[in-house]
Amino acid sequence: MKLLVINGPNLNFLGIREPDHYGRETYDDLVKKIQAYCDGKGVAVEFYQSNHEGALVDRIQQAYFDQVSGIVINPGAYTHTSIALLDAVKSVQIPTVEVHISKVEEREDFRQVSYIRAACIGTITGMGTDGYLLAVDRLLEHHNGH
Ligand code: DQA
Repeated sequence: MKLLVINGPNLNFLGIREPDHYGRETYDDLVKKIQAYCDGKGVAVEFYQSNHEGALVDRIQQAYFDQVSGIVINPGAYTHTSIALLDAVKSVQIPTVEVHISKVEEREDFRQVSYIRAACIGTITGMGTDGYLLAVDRLLEHHNGH
């Protein structure tokens, strides 16, 4: 089993950007934390971060050819704008879990729409970076038929 963790725009600035919303852990800390978690579960994992919508679409499409079994995605602000990311996840038909570090449902009105959600098997918000680990668990459960 191979998972792919995708982070969208400005998530490379974790630890620097708005720590009240996103905490003090850096993107590198996040990668190490998820890697250690997946190592413990015996699951292979790859990481991708981009600030560019089309590059994110390309990476989702690549996952189809790489036979990735599950995707964890935090699309950042593209959550609220991108039909292209929704279509990409629908296209590849790989089980995908949407993650938001902050509790988006308690924030601005413009964060209340998620286009990608319709193509995801689950959504985790407001759990900080632990949300990515919960998303891994969700994908493992799904993979094992639960
Ligand atoms: C975010 C929430 C989005 O609204 C925001 O644009 C982000 C991060 C989160 O992880 O809480 O960039 O996806």
